[in-house]
Amino acid sequence: MNQANLNPRDSKTVSPWQLQPGLNQQQEVVYSGTIYDVVIIGGGIAGLTTALMLQEQGNQCIILEGHNLGFGTTGGTTAHINTFFDTDYHQVEQDFGADGAKTLANSAKESIAIVQSLIEKYQIECDFALKDGVIYSETEQETKSLLKLLEASRRAGVEAVEVRENGIPVPFEFAVNFNDQAEFHPMKYCIGLAKAFQSLGGTIVENAFVRKTTSEEDLQIAHTDRFEIKGKNLVYATHMPPGLTVFDVECFPYRSYVIGVKLKNGDYPKNMAYDMKDPYHYIRTHNIAGQPYLILGGEDHKTAHENPEAAFEALEAYARQYYYVESVDYRWSAQYYVPADGLPFIGKMPGSNDHTFVATGFSGNGMILGTITGKVLRDAILGQANEYLELFSPSRLKPVAGFKDFVAEKVDVGYHFIADRFNTADMESFAELAPDSGEVVNFKGQKIAVYKDPQGQITALSPTCTHAGCIVKFNAVEKSWDCPCHGGRYDLKGQVITGPPVLNLKQINNPGE
Ligand code: FES
Repeated sequence: MNQANLNPRDSKTVSPWQLQPGLNQQQEVVYSGTIYDVVIIGGGIAGLTTALMLQEQGNQCIILEGHNLGFGTTGGTTAHINTFFDTDYHQVEQDFGADGAKTLANSAKESIAIVQSLIEKYQIECDFALKDGVIYSETEQETKSLLKLLEASRRAGVEAVEVRENGIPVPFEFAVNFNDQAEFHPMKYCIGLAKAFQSLGGTIVENAFVRKTTSEEDLQIAHTDRFEIKGKNLVYATHMPPGLTVFDVECFPYRSYVIGVKLKNGDYPKNMAYDMKDPYHYIRTHNIAGQPYLILGGEDHKTAHENPEAAFEALEAYARQYYYVESVDYRWSAQYYVPADGLPFIGKMPGSNDHTFVATGFSGNGMILGTITGKVLRDAILGQANEYLELFSPSRLKPVAGFKDFVAEKVDVGYHFIADRFNTADMESFAELAPDSGEVVNFKGQKIAVYKDPQGQITALSPTCTHAGCIVKFNAVEKSWDCPCHGGRYDLKGQVITGPPVLNLKQINNPGE
């Protein structure tokens, strides 16, 4: 695989979707003088769908993407498009009532219909296929939970039936099939959305990292390092909105791990399948460059809380336990955010003006929720009725006691961080660090994030996350510094790659200077 031809992602591991050519815009055209109807920050499935649906209504929209389209989670999804969610209908019924569960179910069914209609309307070739999606149990306890899920799904209006096969070589007790689930190539789909958006006059600017947003009279202004863009409305489609927000204590960052496996016997599953473990495994097949692959995901854990290497090892061991593995050709991971009450936040940004919107907390259901975001935010911005606005409203968040103190304290930690450059003797104290690895070390009474590259060169950074002051941790698989608090992530030079921080980690030495 020639890395130079891959579309970059917020991770060093490579997903097969990165082989898809990007937009390849030759020339950047930014109309700094234009006042857009809607400025959308983030070029993943949520931002693209929102932009397209608004542009279709005659709004003039611009997408500002900090890197390239699909750089974030959309480029690392496994693109399962389901009528069930990580938060099961039984739980939703308990917390949001029977009507809440029905509304959630409608959002999933409508999302699939939206994807299908956009594919048809704009002739997007993205390997879309309707598939059976089978959830199966392996223990008595899991069977009890699955039965509850089955009954609650039916009450919510989702078609689900007991089946005798789970379609994969994993023994099971009980299995339920959800008809008409779907899958596609997420980046082919998103590039298709982007081209449709452009064909309607929409503007996309890549490598436009928004450092801050401000308001001036009735306008929202997005500031990048090179220019600022004004709009009547502003949408954060970046998972977590930047800066300190109530979402910092209401959404929790997780990473999921995926392998792309070539099988010896060619016995690739025809359906999608899910077990009832926590975290659960999820499986499907996709043809990549003419070759079928088993796409197996799971081993999720909170960002920067466990060892990513161990997650990949466990996933590979699981694959070898049940399948005739010829080779594991892809390994990748991606980040998602789990909302505290199980439902996404899509709508007006709490504590902001009436023209700032947000979509976050998608859990592992980003394709469905990223799609319905388009319709919800389109209607919210245009002042139209929408069945999902209330259920997904971010204003259901209650102010969190002590939040302001928490933030102030954390910011203070960052503010007081001071470190000098290192001299040669200091550098030698890092000699024991293995090449191509990193660690947060105590050095002269201060914590330092140290990375040694394969040639032995040291980069030292402040480990204090610029968002709210937590200490980052080295991710040996993705070669990044990940924050355990809200999932902020930085590259080896300390530059922000994802999450709520907008400022880079402070570099405290630069050997050779
Ligand atoms: Fe919030 Fe690091 S402190 S992402």
